[in-house]
Amino acid sequence: MESDALTERHRFADAERAALYKTVFNRRDVRGQFTSTPVADEVLARVLYAAHHAPSVGFMQPWNFLVIRSQEKKQQVHQLFSKANREAAEMFEGEKQTAYKSLKLEGILESPINLCITCDRTRTGKPVLGRTHMKTMDLYSSVCAVQNLWLAARAEGLGVGWVSIMHEQELKDTLNIPEHVVPIAYLCIGYVEHFKDKPELETKGWLPRMNLSELVNFEQWQGEASTSEQEQLLETLQALESFPTNF
Ligand SMILES: Cc1cc2nc3c(=O)[nH]c(=O)nc-3n(C[C@H](O)[C@H](O)[C@H](O)COP(=O)(O)O)c2cc1C
Repeated sequence: MESDALTERHRFADAERAALYKTVFNRRDVRGQFTSTPVADEVLARVLYAAHHAPSVGFMQPWNFLVIRSQEKKQQVHQLFSKANREAAEMFEGEKQTAYKSLKLEGILESPINLCITCDRTRTGKPVLGRTHMKTMDLYSSVCAVQNLWLAARAEGLGVGWVSIMHEQELKDTLNIPEHVVPIAYLCIGYVEHFKDKPELETKGWLPRMNLSELVNFEQWQGEASTSEQEQLLETLQALESFPTNF
């Protein structure tokens, strides 16, 4: 087959690809704009299916999805956050601490659904194909489920916020999660007033988005471009700098 035909053959139609990139570049971590509008089970089911179809090492599917709607449970988790957030603020100094304290870093009580995505480290027994040497691969698999859900939710018009500022064991105790299971992500999910164009940590001056071409190395860690082929990729990255803003 002609190589041109091969590059086209499995590619999605232009509008479909645009929809994918639109989802990727417009996904945001949402903390402050949640509304109480209920999320229909059908919508929640679709995003859970998206999560469940994430890649996983050895097809281990180590995740569970703990759907939390009761105000009582949310209050308990919010207390864990509040305590940890006070501790976290103390870890920064001066202006950084002032900036930290001004940030809203969760939407636990305002979002209609909280969802804890976990990783069962014993699922499918031992050994697990692909996890024979790098034992953390099960954790990364559950993270893939988080990202799938996050993107699907954005396409559905749902905001998602990841809350990680709490003690892991306290969260486990609160949600009755057994020893061999790790809480990977505690997510706040709901419809939102608006989605921000950029990460809040960027617009509020916490950190800037890094330059992608400075993060691409060749052949080894920190390997710099030394061939025309390598330099061409860097030039292409720079030329496409505005690509994410096109969607
Ligand atoms: C593993 C992980 C943990 C995070 N934990 C928190 C958190 O505890 N509180 C918070 O406000 N945002 C949290 N975030 C969201 C990031 O701050 C956010 O993704 C980043 O600033 C980029 O913004 P964006 O997601 O809107 O593009 C977390 C994100 C990830 C991937």
